[in-house]
Amino acid sequence: MDNEGVIVVKDGKSTKLKGLAVNGKSVSRAYALKGANETFILIFDNRESDTMSRNKIVAGNWKMNPSSKDEAVELANTLKRAIGSVASECKCVIFPPTCFIDAVATALADCDVEVGAQNVHYEKTGAYTGQVSVSQVKSCGATWVMVGHSETREYIADDNSLFNKQIQASLQNGLKVIYCVGEDVSEYESNISGDVVRVQLAGGLLGITPEQMANVVVAYEPIWAIGTGKTCSNMQANVMHEVIRKWIKEKYGTEVAEKAMICYGGSVNASNTQNLVAEAEIDGVMAGGASLKLDFATIVDRAFGRQ
Ligand code: PGA
Repeated sequence: MDNEGVIVVKDGKSTKLKGLAVNGKSVSRAYALKGANETFILIFDNRESDTMSRNKIVAGNWKMNPSSKDEAVELANTLKRAIGSVASECKCVIFPPTCFIDAVATALADCDVEVGAQNVHYEKTGAYTGQVSVSQVKSCGATWVMVGHSETREYIADDNSLFNKQIQASLQNGLKVIYCVGEDVSEYESNISGDVVRVQLAGGLLGITPEQMANVVVAYEPIWAIGTGKTCSNMQANVMHEVIRKWIKEKYGTEVAEKAMICYGGSVNASNTQNLVAEAEIDGVMAGGASLKLDFATIVDRAFGRQ
């Protein structure tokens, strides 16, 4: 460290620094992470991310809600009115249940909010009862696909090679992808979150080219924070986003990594969005429960710095 002085950083908090340099590079923030055996790991952030701008994203995962097409259209219209227009460097995407994609996309056709599918099959056509193909959801108005959500990992298949096929098929057919990764509670408690996420990234993104990465957003969604009301602290989320960006950088180089959008999901609400997106590595949020309410418009405002 080039400066003298004491830095006090508490677990779970990031502290902004002024005039501090480590190995000749200025440092804008320090983070403290509680590691194993009550030790603290200090992480210095000397990226210029505070000043650099990356595109931002807010996604709404409606899961298996609402219960009818009429309600879905009503919700889409309510959110459309509240969200208004979205700047070109910001993306706002709603993921309704597959059977409502058409109706929701029609309702949102005259606004900047896009629509995505919560799941697709990787084959083009065939005897796959209960499945939908990329071209089918595309023809209904979807421009995005969500892949690897922990609920599909848990209830359908925890298989990174399957997710890889879905990502390949989606990108080849011109759809953008949100690829969800994240550790469960026991992996979190065993301090192996980084390893878990790196395996998910390597499996899911196998063979994806640097050019294709422009259409891939990674969503970091710690499973223990989904639908539980337990948000991962901003600092913890930021550290995991840093792990993800580092992995992208190692595989695809600095330019792809710096442009890649990485968003956070897990008990996101109107109150915690602002602090999450204030972190250097967090480029947006994915909301589940909160995307079914008017709160989603507030989340959009806060994530895009509109209030
Ligand atoms: P939640 O869901 O916001 O209700 O926790 C997030 C998600 O599943 O993407």
